[in-house]
Amino acid sequence: MHNLEPAAILDGLRTRWLGQRIVYHETVNSTNSVAKTLAEQAGTEGTLVIAEEQTAGRGRLGRMWLAPRGTSLLFSLLFRPDLSASRTPALNMICGLGIRQAIRELLNLPAQLKWPNDITVRGRKLGGILTEMSTTGKRVDYVIIGIGLNVNLTPAMLPREFNATSISQELGRKASRLLLLQAVLWHIEQRYTALCHGKWPAQEWASALETLGRCVSLRTSQGTWRGVATGIDDEGALMVRLNGGQSRRVLVGDIMPADEPTGEGPAAGPHIAG
Ligand code: BTN
Repeated sequence: MHNLEPAAILDGLRTRWLGQRIVYHETVNSTNSVAKTLAEQAGTEGTLVIAEEQTAGRGRLGRMWLAPRGTSLLFSLLFRPDLSASRTPALNMICGLGIRQAIRELLNLPAQLKWPNDITVRGRKLGGILTEMSTTGKRVDYVIIGIGLNVNLTPAMLPREFNATSISQELGRKASRLLLLQAVLWHIEQRYTALCHGKWPAQEWASALETLGRCVSLRTSQGTWRGVATGIDDEGALMVRLNGGQSRRVLVGDIMPADEPTGEGPAAGPHIAG
């Protein structure tokens, strides 16, 4: 299919500024690391760093991100939002929503989001978002949004525990990475502009989360709990009602669908409040 070189990306890219500057690498350690270096050197907002292959791709919570060369979309976006540090989860939200919309409209697949940063189709992971930022006091210097999407690969190429799927797996045919990238950038730019005009995305994001209202197993660095995911707040924290009726607010962790809420784990630690 199409390659991802800058000229190909720019040809047909409808955005005004997002992705209009491109740093392309065949192979790189991590596009997030390259974007961070760029940001430290006064790189322009909207810069897209993209690669065919990463040798040290990173996921959330210190995990690796694996993708065979030339099969996926692996890219990072540099933002300099006029937001306080506690409001930056909005960027994860608008990017998730933009990706979901692009996949739905372009490929007609029932993409969903899974708290806090997964893109899923039919309960399997299609992609993820890694947000990294630099702040000075409450001020945000920059935010790097790293996006990995499994496009033309078979899930057997990835470890089983990833519970992965891909666009080609779901469609039964290969898809154009280029067209998908252009659509994703377009939808993210639209949503970023709306955010800058005060449109807060939390409500729409909540309605796109596959896990709300369901029984979940919640894993944090303090332990594992079961309960019902009842909602999210403005900062993207997940509200969970545990079996005992107690409510938790969780900012960092993972959730898995669980059939029934059965147990209440250890006492709350620093990532859980309220
Ligand atoms: C996750 O689901 O844990 C987030 C995965 C994010 C992976 C992308 S791939 C492009 C960018 N560069 C990285 O090293 N990570 C992100």
